[in-house]
Order: sequence, then structure tokens, then C-alpha cells
Amino acid sequence: MSAMVEIDNAMKTYEGGFEALKGVTLSIREGEILALLGPNGAGKTTLISCICGISQPSGGAIRVGGHDVVSDYREARSLVGLVPQEVNLEPFEKVWNTVRFSRGLFGKPRDDAHIEALLKRLSLWDKRDNQIKELSGGMKRRVLIAKALAHDPRVLFLDEPTAGVDVELRRDMWRIVEDMRADGVTIILTTHYIEEAEAIADRIGVISKGELLLVEEKSALMARMGRKELRIELQAPLDAIPESLSDYDLALADEGRALVYSYDTAAERTGIARLIAALAEKGIVLRDVSTRQSSLEEIFVGLVHDGEDAA
Ligand SMILES: Nc1ncnc2c1ncn2[C@@H]1O[C@H](COP(=O)(O)OP(=O)(O)O)[C@@H](O)[C@H]1O
Ligand SMILES: [Mg+2]
Repeated sequence: MSAMVEIDNAMKTYEGGFEALKGVTLSIREGEILALLGPNGAGKTTLISCICGISQPSGGAIRVGGHDVVSDYREARSLVGLVPQEVNLEPFEKVWNTVRFSRGLFGKPRDDAHIEALLKRLSLWDKRDNQIKELSGGMKRRVLIAKALAHDPRVLFLDEPTAGVDVELRRDMWRIVEDMRADGVTIILTTHYIEEAEAIADRIGVISKGELLLVEEKSALMARMGRKELRIELQAPLDAIPESLSDYDLALADEGRALVYSYDTAAERTGIARLIAALAEKGIVLRDVSTRQSSLEEIFVGLVHDGEDAA
């Protein structure tokens, strides 16, 4: 598959000198769903704004469908649909017009059947003649989605789409994302709900302090998540891990009173039985054992934290 969005060393320094993007390089394949994870202030919205042409990068280059977002703005922009983080609708405008005008803005011919289908799919059809100000927060979000899809974009950006939305809208949203994926639309979403990224993304990127710390296939990341820890409390503390156990991924904890064994849950053998036998052979007496699973959340927090240490 070819690259739909190419981000080459993108930088953004805001007025006042704050560096929100410090050279992000990323290639997004046509038809994939990429989730960008990162804490508040990481630069997710800034990156999306630069790709969508709302904000100009201070350095580097960004292309959408081969069109440079600065020099070839119109072409690049017409390929992109954006569901923004903040609701930015005209309060006195009617739902129908809001969505229809948005299509017109991109120079696409009027297509009332398409707008009707969109509004029906988003459960907005009954509200088509209502003014935006008469809608609930969840419905305004639905209008934002309809608006983003009105001109048949090839790339859809969803910036924190589910922050504070109800279960029903969340479910509708994922149904729409699935439909769009089936149509071959490339989807980039930002979130700080990790389970959400886990559920729908093909690839996961982690961004922190304006830098992309990692981009990885979800399946590879899940395999990494499959690590578990076996904690073995010892009767008598150890000074060091015995030489004969150097094959195992072991660490001493709690001033030698515990051994922590990390193993891969996806592996054919965990090695636990062999390790316990080896400990018994060394005359090491166990007091208690427990296991715990490392989560994507921990991997994520660890990464972001390491990023802070380096800064
Ligand atoms: N217009 C702006 N002027 C100055 N600083 C900004 C502006 N917009 C965002 N920032 C700063 O840039 C950083 C990244 O913001 P943003 O891209 O919104 O992060 P995220 O979407 O990951 O929460 C933040 O520290 C934010 O305060
Ligand atoms: Mg944001």
C-alpha cells in the first residue's frame, strides 16, 4: 500500500517560541487506522492541524495524497475530513445547511442524497431542520462528524472523538469508522483512552512533548503486552541472582527478599516450572508467589516517562 500522508520532519514553533512539534516523521498508509496516543499537551492537535492545513508547520514537509499541504493547499485539504476536538459550529445555522455547506466549501457538487444518507446514519435526520444551538452536546458531535464526511474525504481525522461522549455515540462512531475503513478511507484518531486504540487501530503511535516516541503495529505491541511477571517471595534474602539462573529474565526486588521473573505469555513454554525446580535445587525456599500482567497502559506511561527523563 502506498503512503496517503507523509510527514517529513515536521516542526511547529508557536509565537512566543514554544516548540510543539520537534521534528515528527511518519508515513501513514492508505486505508490504515492509526491511533495517536499521548498525554495532554503532547502535540497531537498541533500535528493534525498542520496536516489539515489549519496551522502551518514551521519546518519540514507534509503531503496528503502526494500534495504538499502548504504549496498545494486546496488539493491536499479536499482529501481530508476533520472532526475537531472543539465544537466549532455556527449556533443559528440549521443542521442540514451546516452539513451541506461544508461539502460546497470543498468545491464538490451538491449531493442531497449523500447528505441525507449521512444524517440518517448519524441519527440526525429528525433534527435536520433544527438550529445547532438546539442540539445536545452529543448531537453537536454527530454534526461535526457529518460535516467532516460531507465532501467524501479520503483521510479522516478524529481528534479525541470520544472524550466525554455517551456510550451510544461512541458505538455509532466506531460503526462509522468500520464503514469508512471498508471504503478504504485512511483514519487517524487521537485519544488518551488506550482501550479505544487497542480496539480499532492497525497501528499505534505514541507522541510526547512534540516527539513521536514509537509507531508500531498493534499486534506487535500486543505481543509485547503479553509479558507477565511472576513475583517470588523468598524465605531468606539473596545478595545476588545465582549464576546458574542467569538464563532466566530475573531481577531482585525488595532488598533481595523477592525475585521477579518476566516471561512471555505468548511463548509455548513459560519456563515457570523449570525455574521453580531450579530454585529448589539451589536450596532457595519460597514463601509466596504471585503473577501480574503488564499492560499497554504501563508500556505507554513508561515510554512517556522515559521521554521526560531525556528532556
Ligand atoms: N496557538 C497556540 N499558541 C501557543 N501554544 C500553543 C498553541 N496551541 C497549542 N499550544 C501548546 O502546544 C502544546 C501542544 O498542544 P496540543 O497540540 O493541543 O496538544 P494535545 O492535542 O496533544 O493535547 C501545548 O503545550 C499547548 O499549550
Ligand atoms: Mg488535542
